[in-house]
Amino acid sequence: MTQRRRILVTSALPYANGPIHLGYLFEAVQTDIWVRFQKLRGHECYYVCADDTHGTPVMLKAQAEGRTPESLIEQVHAEHKRDLAEMLIGFDNYGSTHSPENKVLCDRMYGTARASGYIDKRTVRQAYDATAKMFLPDRYVKGTCPVCGTADQYGDSCENCGATYTPADLKNPISVVTGTVPIERESEHYFFRLSAFEQSLAAWVKSGAVQESVARKLDEWFLQGLKDWDISREAPYFGFEIPDAPGKYFYVWFDAPIGYLASLTQLCARTGLKFDDFLAPDSQAELHHFIGKDILYFHTLFWPAVLQAAGMRRPTAVHAHGFVTINGQKMSKARGTFITARRYLNSFKAEYLRYYFAAKLGAGIDDMDMNLDEFTTRLNSDIVGKLVNIASRCAGFITKNAGGVLAGALPEPELYAAFSAAGGTIAAAYEARDTAGAIREIMALSDRANQYIDSRKPWALAKHANNAAEVQGVCTQGLNLFRVLMIYLQPVLPEMAVKAQRFFQEPAWTWKSSAAPLLGTAITPYQALATRLDPKAVARLVEPESEVTTAATAADGKAISIDEFLAVDLRVAKVLAADLIAGADKLLRLRVDLGELGEREIIAGIRAAYEPSILVGRLVVVVANLEPRKMRFGTSQGMMLAAGPGGKDIFMLSPDAGASPGMRIK
Ligand code: 2FM
Ligand code: ZN
Repeated sequence: MTQRRRILVTSALPYANGPIHLGYLFEAVQTDIWVRFQKLRGHECYYVCADDTHGTPVMLKAQAEGRTPESLIEQVHAEHKRDLAEMLIGFDNYGSTHSPENKVLCDRMYGTARASGYIDKRTVRQAYDATAKMFLPDRYVKGTCPVCGTADQYGDSCENCGATYTPADLKNPISVVTGTVPIERESEHYFFRLSAFEQSLAAWVKSGAVQESVARKLDEWFLQGLKDWDISREAPYFGFEIPDAPGKYFYVWFDAPIGYLASLTQLCARTGLKFDDFLAPDSQAELHHFIGKDILYFHTLFWPAVLQAAGMRRPTAVHAHGFVTINGQKMSKARGTFITARRYLNSFKAEYLRYYFAAKLGAGIDDMDMNLDEFTTRLNSDIVGKLVNIASRCAGFITKNAGGVLAGALPEPELYAAFSAAGGTIAAAYEARDTAGAIREIMALSDRANQYIDSRKPWALAKHANNAAEVQGVCTQGLNLFRVLMIYLQPVLPEMAVKAQRFFQEPAWTWKSSAAPLLGTAITPYQALATRLDPKAVARLVEPESEVTTAATAADGKAISIDEFLAVDLRVAKVLAADLIAGADKLLRLRVDLGELGEREIIAGIRAAYEPSILVGRLVVVVANLEPRKMRFGTSQGMMLAAGPGGKDIFMLSPDAGASPGMRIK
């Protein structure tokens, strides 16, 4: 093997105002595959990420929910971590931008940049909402496009004609926060002097740090000239106050990428790694960022410049990818194609989606269409029909006819050698992030393995006792081919690979484990590694969320772990109001009091069972930390526990008298 590389990898920090969705999973999965591949190759590779917690959207969402931003981001953090762990994303550290480590780094990096003359103070005029007493970010002002006259456009650009402008250019502007007409006010802002880095950024781009199509995009930006960047925001703002500027805060996009380094700091504190080994200007370590193409400007211009201004090294590479479309269309909440990680994971194994993404993932920035029929066919044909089929056709004969022991030699060592030799091409494809290319090679090998078994027909040979040695040889050959394929697939299918490795009774695999076959050793009885996907269940992923989703149907009978159960926050709630909903014949709208957690609105499918008036004043049990669900008739901010088959027979679970709103159950 070539030299052992030291590599730090990140994927973009998911924003803390919403759940993890399929678009983000596409990024996390591709990063994770690349990281697992590097680790399997024996490199020293670390994967860090964090929640992106600051900024106006989080602040306003918390306000709307009547809670503090801290409590909102804490809950979202737990949900993000849970969903990403279930998706088998193997972070070495998952932090938060709202951490002491991030505060220290932001202050330090800003301080160095300022001392080196890269920060300017300037007066700007900005839209101000006099009712809400706040400066309005561009997207919080809406109005008529000054260019084409389309109404209801954001303050930064027009969705109809693509023109870009500032909120001051909009006709008939209104504040999204209060609906009032914004006024203009002057304030002092802090600018990062991006223009000072034009030449060094151009040189960095030429060093091969970005994909070719991205370099072309960057050329356009360089031609337009780089503008200095406003990195400060006015109070009220949820973020870090700028050290020498009371009442001013770092703009979320200043502290977010620094969050990568804060997460690294936590990893270093836990493991004894040294921060400077990764970030010093002369560091020999590699630094790779995986991002969506919509945030290129931040990662290929601002971020390398901020690192340089802070006296740190720049990224080795920024790898951008396209967006996920579902059945050919943009993901959309209205169309029901905004699939959350939770919704997917409630019904399907993480590895199915990982495999599908891997099979479609190239190194470019084209969008990736998730076609649900293709998803089903691909899984059933590649994983169940080809890959797992190799093992399931051979394992039984070894267990039943050969005492569970592999033969001492392969009947066709050249076939094994060809599989082992293919590792070079497959590794090169993974390294270049051409995961689809790697999967194509692996599936071509699966076909060859199946052809081999078809041609030798162990099931026919096994009918005659005197063929026992041949059957053992053929099945040993088949299982060894399967083993090589599972080693190659370990970055994509980490759980299946570990099950396969245990089936072979081996210690953890490395890429090199594929070099030599496994001979004369015992295997454990084979257990099914994958089962077929039901197209009907897959189609349900994009069916509109039903008027009523009961917990039982959502979970599809899948068992949950004790940790998942403990993550459910069950509380006593008092029903303050219960109302019919026009147009919904199964639902009631409840207003409940959750004590310290405040009041919530819950939409519950209990209309046939309860007269609204008898509910008022009653104590019920509520899942208090369910993510708010948009339903046809509004957003439900929790779920009420009830039991029964449905319709009239729904019985609410009432706590004992003596309980009080907000009381925890458990
Ligand atoms: O675009 C986003 O969703 C951002 N939260 C990504 C931040 S990536 C990094 F720079 F922090
Ligand atoms: Zn327009």
